Amino acid sequence: MILRRLGRWAFIGAAVILVAGVAAATFAMKNLLSGKTGGSVEVASAPAEVVARGKYLAEAADCVACHSAPGGAPFAGGLPMQTGFGTIYATNITPDPDDGLGRWSAEDFWRALHDGIRRDGQQLYPAMPYTSYRGMTRTDADAIYAYIMQLRPMKVANRRTELNFPFNIRLGMLGWNLLFLHDSLPAVSAGSSPAWQRGRYLVNVLGHCGECHTPRGVVGEMELARSLTGFALGRVAAPDITPAGLASRGWTAAGLRAYLGRGLARQGSAFGDMHPVIMLSTRNLTAADLAAVATYLLGDNPPPPAPQPAVEPAESAAAANGAGRMSYVALCAGCHGLDGDGVPNTVVAMRANSTLRLADPRNLIVAMLDGIGAENFPHRASMQAMPGFSDKLSDAEAAALANYLRATWGGQKADVTPAAVRALR
Ligand code: HEC
Ligand code: HEC
Ligand code: HEC
Repeated sequence: MILRRLGRWAFIGAAVILVAGVAAATFAMKNLLSGKTGGSVEVASAPAEVVARGKYLAEAADCVACHSAPGGAPFAGGLPMQTGFGTIYATNITPDPDDGLGRWSAEDFWRALHDGIRRDGQQLYPAMPYTSYRGMTRTDADAIYAYIMQLRPMKVANRRTELNFPFNIRLGMLGWNLLFLHDSLPAVSAGSSPAWQRGRYLVNVLGHCGECHTPRGVVGEMELARSLTGFALGRVAAPDITPAGLASRGWTAAGLRAYLGRGLARQGSAFGDMHPVIMLSTRNLTAADLAAVATYLLGDNPPPPAPQPAVEPAESAAAANGAGRMSYVALCAGCHGLDGDGVPNTVVAMRANSTLRLADPRNLIVAMLDGIGAENFPHRASMQAMPGFSDKLSDAEAAALANYLRATWGGQKADVTPAAVRALR
């Protein structure tokens, strides 16, 4: 999953080479002068309430998602992020003086989050989402620093980033930053209320939702003019979560609060790359902050959720009798129900499920091919595992099944081809 999630950094590598020349000429060696590897160990002591606030903000910003290796200590780093040109490792950000941030001042920390610059003056790669964190307030960054600095120091050595020449030249990012490191926040909806303002900050800055949900341009930059309109991360896509996109799939503010707070909503459950976002980050948001996120995503005046579009009678009759329905009854109905109603708290409903209502069929196809492992949700809720059906369905059968589901319960065109299935195997 991690590999899939981070494949997009391949683009970033391309960015490095494209702008390296410009960068070198423009900025010369300005930031490389001070070799700041030594220095004294920082003693950071902050009031308990600042540390508690920092913990909350670090969760909202999901630092732990990347800065922990699978099975490794939280914040001790090591998560490999694959790119087309090599591997970038998230670093140890516990306060260990040699391997972590033990010698970092609050100022050093701020420069990493705000400018994408390491303590030694070298450029970070935007695999660290500083283009989103750029909008963070200094007060919030300092609170996160206060929290991080009182974590248990972990002696876990950083792994060297293994990028091939010329992508290993960090200086190339200077030019990229010049072009793509912005101070303004996008506005995905219309609003001005305090909740909308807060939601805009939570979504764009702390939650860095756009890092997955915003399309990326040719050199890996987030296309802010198309903020949150959805992007294929590989085999799966982070859907369009603009007001129009969400409303077209039946999302309401209440649905979004349930989905982001508990991972389960009438519109569907969180799976794939979105599941950890909820478990590590959004579930911890206060009720007021969850409401603010929903307010920003839908706007101060939310569009009415689209009713499920009526199915063309001829198409529905063909679908009902076709191979798709047969596969559904044989393989899926035992769990999802003959009428697609699911089983409360055990199996999600297919009827009006947001994954079936996506114009892009890839998440539906990948879910049925791969299955979904048993997942825990907040408040001790859990969903049973869904098996994968890649060996039980031919390309043609899987396409017919996807078309049946899309036309019957998703209000989408039955336009999935066997070739589209084959491409996702
Ligand atoms: C999407 C993944 C991701 C998230 C989320 C993330 N980071 Fe990072 N971070 C990275 C990667 C990857 C690097 C190393 C980049 C490089 O080598 O250029 C990094 C580097 C850093 C560095 C520089 C450390 C060093 O040793 O030079 C700091 C400090 C840092 N991150 C702090 C944070 C904090 C604080 C948060 C949460 C507010 C956070 N990161 C969230 C991926 C992430
Ligand atoms: C053993 C029970 C079981 C069977 C059989 C099953 N599913 Fe599922 N399915 C689930 C569960 C449980 C989830 C929710 C998983 C989660 O989010 O953790 C799910 C989720 C999904 C999703 C993602 C939607 C969402 O909101 O989570 C799709 C799409 C889906 N199933 C389609 C199918 C299709 C098509 C078939 C038949 C080929 C099928 N399922 C067979 C149990 C099952
Ligand atoms: C690591 C990439 C990633 C990040 C970061 C991320 N998402 Fe997602 N998101 C996904 C993927 C992939 C899906 C599709 C899986 C699913 O529907 O459960 C998704 C699904 C969703 C959905 C359900 C859409 C639908 O119609 O089913 C919502 C709502 C959502 N994300 C909101 C957010 C918000 C808000 C944030 C920031 C707090 C966020 N996401 C951050 C990858 C991401």
